[in-house]
Amino acid sequence: MTKVLGISGSLRRGSYNSALLRAAARLMPEDATLEIASIRGIPLYDGDVEAQGIPAAVTQLKEAIITADGVLLVTPEYNNSVPGVFKNAIDWLSRPASDVKRVFGGRRFALLGASAGAFGTVLSQAAWLPVLRTLGTQPWFGARLMVARAAGVFDEAGNLKEALIEEQLKQFLAGYVAFLRRAAAGASRAGQPGQGGQAQGG
Ligand SMILES: Cc1cc2nc3c(=O)[nH]c(=O)nc-3n(C[C@H](O)[C@H](O)[C@H](O)COP(=O)(O)O)c2cc1C
Repeated sequence: MTKVLGISGSLRRGSYNSALLRAAARLMPEDATLEIASIRGIPLYDGDVEAQGIPAAVTQLKEAIITADGVLLVTPEYNNSVPGVFKNAIDWLSRPASDVKRVFGGRRFALLGASAGAFGTVLSQAAWLPVLRTLGTQPWFGARLMVARAAGVFDEAGNLKEALIEEQLKQFLAGYVAFLRRAAAGASRAGQPGQGGQAQGG
């Protein structure tokens, strides 16, 4: 069973990105699961807070990442870049720096996103790349999915209502899970653990 952890970068109740993540959970290939995690409860990063200990919400999310085969970030776009609340969560997850390798090193990330605008998070997804690189992840670049003009793509209950996007999402997930499986098979042939140990960040 391939286990993916999905994280939406929006706290909004009616979030398109959270709706996209729920649709992804429904459309996962056979023998693969998508568990939905949340950034809710993660405080604003403050080095003084860190000095008193890593907040429980951060530790819990770290442990969920560590037990997953892959991590799917579903990102909004704010001012043509990464939303601060989502980046803040990833920044917390990268603390202390000695934990970066364990949490992110060689971990197989993928990006998706939905926005109200015409370009569907293309700039936000690009803005994540230096972050994922710095943390030593192994991003999957086999497909891209940017859900543009999201107000017309989801109904009021947050259900995906466009068959074309649903098909594209299904294909995206199939490609990503196949990548995770190839990586796991390669690691087991080489007698290595499936994940970790390749971090450049710290
Ligand atoms: C501060 C802010 C900046 C935004 N900047 C962009 C932008 O650069 N491009 C875009 O397509 N949408 C932008 N939007 C609109 C978002 O796409 C829209 O709010 C979307 O619903 C956010 O994702 P969510 O539904 O998952 O919360 C912005 C929204 C906010 C609040």
